[in-house]
Amino acid sequence: MSKATAVAHSNLAFVKYWGKIDAELNLPLNSSISMTLSNAKTTTTVRFDEALPHDKIIVAGEEQDPTGRFAQRISQHLDRIRTLANQQAHAEILTENTFPVSAGFASSASGLAALSLAGSAALGLNLSERDLTILARRGSGSASRSIPAGFVEWYAASTSEDSFAEQIAAPEHWDIRDVAVIVSSEEKAISSSLGHKLAQESPFWQSRQPLLPQRLDTVRQAILDRDFETFGRELEAEAISMHAIALTSSYSTNNHWHSGIYYWTPDTLELLLAVQQWREDGIPVYFTLDAGPTVHLICPAAYEAQIQDAVCQIQGSRNWSTLVNAPAPGAYLVIE
Ligand code: DP6
Repeated sequence: MSKATAVAHSNLAFVKYWGKIDAELNLPLNSSISMTLSNAKTTTTVRFDEALPHDKIIVAGEEQDPTGRFAQRISQHLDRIRTLANQQAHAEILTENTFPVSAGFASSASGLAALSLAGSAALGLNLSERDLTILARRGSGSASRSIPAGFVEWYAASTSEDSFAEQIAAPEHWDIRDVAVIVSSEEKAISSSLGHKLAQESPFWQSRQPLLPQRLDTVRQAILDRDFETFGRELEAEAISMHAIALTSSYSTNNHWHSGIYYWTPDTLELLLAVQQWREDGIPVYFTLDAGPTVHLICPAAYEAQIQDAVCQIQGSRNWSTLVNAPAPGAYLVIE
């Protein structure tokens, strides 16, 4: 086979990957736990063709500049797949997302996961799920967690072959929702890759690290026990812990000094405060945030509509949008 199509979902981390021990291999400083997202999906077709002079990358029907940063990242990942299969042919890649790339979802997670599966299958590599997570991780750390289904843990390790992701629980295990409130569609100024690099600059880095093994145990167990309150408290505290590191990672651009990375907008903060109030009003809801202003409201499925209403009430005339996600399947091949 020289052509294959794969689907992968983005994922949302409850215990965050923030900082690397090896940026080339994407080896994380700590393990992380996430959930795949049903409505944030990438579909990618890879076709290898000896006649192509270079990799041709088409996103939602638009051919990308092969010298641009995005195309280079894809080609670099294709090189990893070509090396594994001992092949040299260039490829045509057709890819599209069900969600806007700037919406605060890790499109690199679903994108690199789908590319890893489609690319390896197209070259006849029959990789195990574990090896696929390792390959996807090389493209983008969080992509490793978009290969298995449902609730997933990605392990920190000092070698590439030991830093893989695996399922903690299937999507059907727990009917929870992520009501993602997209408050801004502006592209973030500081990429997560730079955020990872700066993380250890924070004076609070040292105090976050020792808390993580216990936090991972608590979140994993709360998922297994379907203990929503323990789960929610821990994931909200974790989101703030990651952002406390970002907010205190100072950096300079063009000789301008910044005291830290502000991924939030005033609307983000308004929602974080609203969540505290909603809980006081008896709604079981907790938040998490990735490296951007989108607020992910986590609740039992039965509360989804109530939370959407509550969001509408404070939104007013602002241009927010919501995307609701349930736990999703892992990456899969589409049989044509
Ligand atoms: C805040 O996986 O996007 O979403 O490995 O450099 O591609 P690279 O970084 P990426 O980082 C994700 C950071 C995060 C937290 C998380 O998903 O765990």
